[in-house]
Amino acid sequence: MMRRIVRMAFRPEAVDAFLQIFEESKDKIRAFPGCLHLELWRDHSRPEVCFTYSLWTGPEALEAYRHSDLFRKTWARTKVLFAERPQAWSLELVQAPEGHPVIFGAAAPGLEAVLARHAPGRVAVLVDDHTEQYCYPKVRAALPDDHLLIRIPHGEQHKNLDTCRYIWTQMLEARLDRQALLVNLGGGVVGDMGGFCAATWKRGIRFVQVPTTLLAQVDASTGGKLGIDFEGVKNIIGAFADPLAVLVDTDFLATLPFAELRSGFAEVIKHALIADADQWKMLRRIEDLRTADWPQIVPRSLAVKRRIVAADPYERGLRKALNFGHTIGHALESAAMQTDQSLLHGEAIAIGMVCESWLSAQKVGLPPEELEQITAFIRQIFGYHPLNNLAKADLLALMHNDKKNEGDRINFSLLPRIGEVRVNQTASEADIRASLDYYESAMQRGSG
Ligand SMILES: NC(=O)c1ccc[n+]([C@@H]2O[C@H](COP(=O)([O-])OP(=O)(O)OC[C@H]3O[C@@H](n4cnc5c(N)ncnc54)[C@H](O)[C@@H]3O)[C@@H](O)[C@H]2O)c1
Ligand SMILES: [Zn+2]
Repeated sequence: MMRRIVRMAFRPEAVDAFLQIFEESKDKIRAFPGCLHLELWRDHSRPEVCFTYSLWTGPEALEAYRHSDLFRKTWARTKVLFAERPQAWSLELVQAPEGHPVIFGAAAPGLEAVLARHAPGRVAVLVDDHTEQYCYPKVRAALPDDHLLIRIPHGEQHKNLDTCRYIWTQMLEARLDRQALLVNLGGGVVGDMGGFCAATWKRGIRFVQVPTTLLAQVDASTGGKLGIDFEGVKNIIGAFADPLAVLVDTDFLATLPFAELRSGFAEVIKHALIADADQWKMLRRIEDLRTADWPQIVPRSLAVKRRIVAADPYERGLRKALNFGHTIGHALESAAMQTDQSLLHGEAIAIGMVCESWLSAQKVGLPPEELEQITAFIRQIFGYHPLNNLAKADLLALMHNDKKNEGDRINFSLLPRIGEVRVNQTASEADIRASLDYYESAMQRGSG
């Protein structure tokens, strides 16, 4: 598996010509034997600099492309536009991040097809008490009669080593071998922990994600990150591993409590804001989340995450784009845990997105009318959560501790406009405090 990144600096007046060439040739390159993925990134702080990112089945495939007519022709047209010599990095990846299929639609036939095709040994199914009640009956008929059902209690507080021990014990008693396959039927907790248990059982057995919450469908079930909490630290133990497939059936959302649905919706908003301005226009027309057109919304939202993950499978940089709203949001979430004010992940991220949109307006030129749109929409969907109990000094301390920082600068991903994101931005403590003040005053203005 090869990853190749080319940094190209163009003469400013030649950038549009290059974008045109890219548009014309990208489908042909994507169809070239061995090309798994091709994408273009622009450095928005330096519009004359573009990066292409491509992923190849192996070094031979990349070499074959570099000796092809297709390459020679596009390169000949491109090289006259350069301002500087391009730099290229090719990297061989040991573990294949080719991604897994995502199958949209009814889960039962999807699961039946996956199980039939991969003809595994024993099938095990992990559920929590809620998904056993609401989701398991919907897929029961697709499972072999002798499947092993593993039940755990619901909730983040059980995403830990004790529950893993319980899951592994069930596997041991059932004598699951390497041919076994685990179906994780549930939200992000079941998916992260079940995936981790599968990835470590006998050094890894196959698993299928069947996400049943909105958050898991658009976010947690894809990206390869698996894990559990340990000694109070979230997701500190884990692994990267890809499922055999992800089955996304939006019918599961019908039984999801409203607060969970709304919490997951924060990630849907985030994906639209960082990379899909058209989806944002569509979301703004939603009046009631209960009746939103999920079969339409979920695949588009998931596509944003998949695109970004494919470009940065091991979180070396570009994945930071997904952090929008999360620098401040995570700090709020942790601070809320230490008080009696409970804040779901998405509720905290919603506040974080308002604050970070304000920072975006200050730092990277998000237009004021777009800031107002974002603020008004989040106010409409999430209402106002007063921050008064959450001391701002503590929040700043929490942000300094965030693992995503480098040195003592606080790292943000900000929006130069809706549908675009710029990573590796920083803000001062005073700016961050002012962004929290903006949240409070804008929400009070709206609710008064
Ligand atoms: N791996 C990743 O990249 C990634 C990304 C984001 C979040 N996460 C993780 O995801 C977890 C949160 O996921 P979540 O929000 O799905 O929480 P969750 O799994 O706890 O589910 C929320 C609640 O909804 C219930 N539920 C699930 N599906 C239901 C349904 N269809 N009907 C009725 N009730 C249902 C669950 O039992 C639970 O009580 C966190 O642990 C977080 O760390 C992981
Ligand atoms: Zn999130």
